[in-house]
Amino acid sequence: MRIIDLRSDTITRPTPAMRRAMADAEVGDDVFGEDPTVNRLEEMAAQRLGKEAGLFVVSGTMANLVCLLTHCGRGHEVLLGDRSHTFYYEQGGSAALGGVHPRTLPNEPDGTLDLGRIEAAIRPDNIHFPRTRLVVLENTHNRCSGSPLTPEYMRAVGEIARQHDLKLHVDGARIFNAAVALGVDASDLVSEADSVTFCLSKGLAAPVGSVVCGSRDFIREARRARKVVGGGMRQAGVIAAAGIVALTEMVGRLAEDHDNAHRLAEGLVDAGGLSVDPGSVRTNIVYMDITRDGLLSAHLAEQLAGEGVLLLPTGPRQLRAVTNYHIARDDVDHASDVIRTVLKRQGPPGPY
Ligand SMILES: Cc1ncc(COP(=O)(O)O)c(C=O)c1O
Repeated sequence: MRIIDLRSDTITRPTPAMRRAMADAEVGDDVFGEDPTVNRLEEMAAQRLGKEAGLFVVSGTMANLVCLLTHCGRGHEVLLGDRSHTFYYEQGGSAALGGVHPRTLPNEPDGTLDLGRIEAAIRPDNIHFPRTRLVVLENTHNRCSGSPLTPEYMRAVGEIARQHDLKLHVDGARIFNAAVALGVDASDLVSEADSVTFCLSKGLAAPVGSVVCGSRDFIREARRARKVVGGGMRQAGVIAAAGIVALTEMVGRLAEDHDNAHRLAEGLVDAGGLSVDPGSVRTNIVYMDITRDGLLSAHLAEQLAGEGVLLLPTGPRQLRAVTNYHIARDDVDHASDVIRTVLKRQGPPGPY
């Protein structure tokens, strides 16, 4: 059966060029700072984002955790979106391991946080309050339709952070998707950020890894945080080599994923039983809300999987599709045909 896996861009497998680079990678002990391939990836990443230094870590979750642990101490407060990955999907790691107090603000549908709300949430100096230390933004914003946040917005938040002596962290797991969608340089999106993370293992198709970027001083401290959470790797050049290929060869093609995502959304606009808004699809993520009475996402996903189309249930009545390196335009057309057919086949609402 033809399988079209749209669950996530994390399913991407390394390209032949990555596999070759991995096989040939020069390596050393990275905890001693002696892996030349890791060092090269970290330098390249920092340069791409306009920062002084980089730090290779195993995952986006570890990248965010290391940054929050570096910026904040116990009892410090972090302001972040209520739909942000860091708040929603990372086990509250900074609270669990670092005693950092999360304060959520509502994400707007485009993934931003209202500037007035950010300012209003910053605590005055008062013995009863935790100290606000950090603002976290996510760009693109996964749970907000993969929306890219503009350089102007990012700078506006940076300005607020600076005025109030706060730090700004950017979860840029998909920062290159944002840059490509907006037609800007990724460094323009994070010029005000004290730390930024991005993932090599999502749309860029590397098998493992994220990079944290920031000032030299910040990265020195973040390296300690990485070690304490068990993230010190040894001959990690074997995986960093794939990351170098990801950065050099895979960014330009992200526009293709964005076009395919938009095409998928357009193809589903009048599929009965689903609500999809192509206008909200700016990058590689498409959310679909089920409007048919009684139909649950788990049930629909199971039926679609039976026909070879894999989508991810992201709520009882919501599904997500993420286009990626392995999905061609023709796959998208086939997937939307299958989705339409399966929806048509649904009888009257059942006791799902
Ligand atoms: C916005 C965002 N941040 C962080 C992560 C975490 O990345 P990882 O799965 O590598 O831990 C993800 C994963 O999907 C994400 O979408």
